[in-house]
Amino acid sequence: MNFPDMLEAKRRNNSKTEYVYLENNQCNLYENKKYYIRTYGCQMNVHDSENICALVESLGFTQTENFNDSDLIILNTCAIRENVHDKVIGFLGRCKHLKNIKKDLIIALCGCMAQEESVVKEIMSKHKYIDIVFGTHNMHEFTNMLINRKETTDINVYSINGNVYENIPYKRDSNITAWVNIMYGCDKFCTYCIVPYTRGRERSRNPKIIIDEVKGLADKGCKEITLLGQNVNSYDWKEGNNSYNFAQLIAKVADLSPFLRVRFATSHPKDISNELIQTIANYPNICSYIHLPFQSGSNNMLQRMNRGYTREYYIERIQTIRSIIPHCGLSTDIIAGFCGETESDHQDTLALMKEVVFDAAYMFKYSVRKGTKASKQFNDDVPENKKTTRLNEIITLQQQHSLESNQKEIGKTFEILVEGESKRSKEHFFGRTTSNKVAVFPKQNSEKGMYVQVKIKECTTATLIGDIV
Ligand code: SAH
Ligand code: SF4
Ligand code: F3S
Repeated sequence: MNFPDMLEAKRRNNSKTEYVYLENNQCNLYENKKYYIRTYGCQMNVHDSENICALVESLGFTQTENFNDSDLIILNTCAIRENVHDKVIGFLGRCKHLKNIKKDLIIALCGCMAQEESVVKEIMSKHKYIDIVFGTHNMHEFTNMLINRKETTDINVYSINGNVYENIPYKRDSNITAWVNIMYGCDKFCTYCIVPYTRGRERSRNPKIIIDEVKGLADKGCKEITLLGQNVNSYDWKEGNNSYNFAQLIAKVADLSPFLRVRFATSHPKDISNELIQTIANYPNICSYIHLPFQSGSNNMLQRMNRGYTREYYIERIQTIRSIIPHCGLSTDIIAGFCGETESDHQDTLALMKEVVFDAAYMFKYSVRKGTKASKQFNDDVPENKKTTRLNEIITLQQQHSLESNQKEIGKTFEILVEGESKRSKEHFFGRTTSNKVAVFPKQNSEKGMYVQVKIKECTTATLIGDIV
């Protein structure tokens, strides 16, 4: 059965349409047409784009890096901060311009911004040249929207939806590393954050399906998988008397093969249990690296943010991690200038950074998001220039820490998984240590997907430089 026939059959047979995509179901409706995709936001979105690419390619499209040459433009958007929103709107201007020249151009907008009511309203009034809008819960319907094109903007966005769709194909750029979703959504409702609204309620995937997916990837030669979720450590699956938490799940995944590296992102400090820390320590193939956002070093701010922990609790977790997993790589997220943040709150953030000394950090200025609790209940009262000053202080300190952390590695030898060619030089490969530090080294006789021993001889803030020994 070809692709549209299969959709039709499904539609007729089920009142509630559910689409199952099989590898052989291709259709040539868009043969010789090209698509261009631009992805904003987190790994979750990048991974969603892998789904979206496979879906549109099943209709005959091929991917192009050349924006002007495309017949379909897909913007997979992010809503996390105002500056990302502005970038998307800026890029839409370019799309509109191209459409004026190329009347048949199809423009599709999806991802987290599509889940925002205000954005959808804005599209309906100001951006009528957009052809298709779909949300984060119904990517699988994109093909159908491309098959049954409408005259005006086709908007198909679900609000919070509890379903987990399986069997959506992927297009993966790397055959060495891969992402596997283990859960969707977030129930933490940090007061500043839009994710619980754009990604819906937290729901975990069936562990059997996750294990099968990882097995399939490993059989195809994949050497490293990253288990993905907004808060992977609140993974929770129950069926009858069986239940699985994240520590149990990751152990099962790591048991599949000692040659498969296992990573995960992101963890929430509240749910980082001793059982999980011990499991990471027990398995050599679970990478010694934890991304653990602390957001603010001030207890006042943490409470306002609804993070559910104190700075003392956070520091205790870090100490426990370091005592059980020596040399564990640690990175974090930090927000500067949240509502009501005083100079002393900011100093608490810097002090926490100095106490922990992270290997890396993602640092942001607070940005009001419509619909969040913070936008309704607190004043965004830290002036922009103060936010900038504080952010810069945080960045400067972190750069110093990142450099110190890398300098400590000079002279040591690490096992590195060769991931690909270095962007700067064809003679060099890059890969990562178990602690998630990027290393660059001359290729010698190594190949992609191999584990090599690299002795570090110099470094920058972001990269280790060495030679295979
Ligand atoms: N689920 C992850 C983070 C997801 S969003 C976690 O909780 O750890 C990634 C980061 O964006 C957050 O950790 C936070 O630092 C930042 N962020 C989220 N909302 C923000 C906002 N309104 N303004 C500034 N930064 C924000
Ligand atoms: Fe956002 Fe908080 Fe959920 Fe992370 S845990 S996605 S910061 S609400
Ligand atoms: Fe952005 Fe959505 Fe991820 S808001 S950070 S793409 S979950």
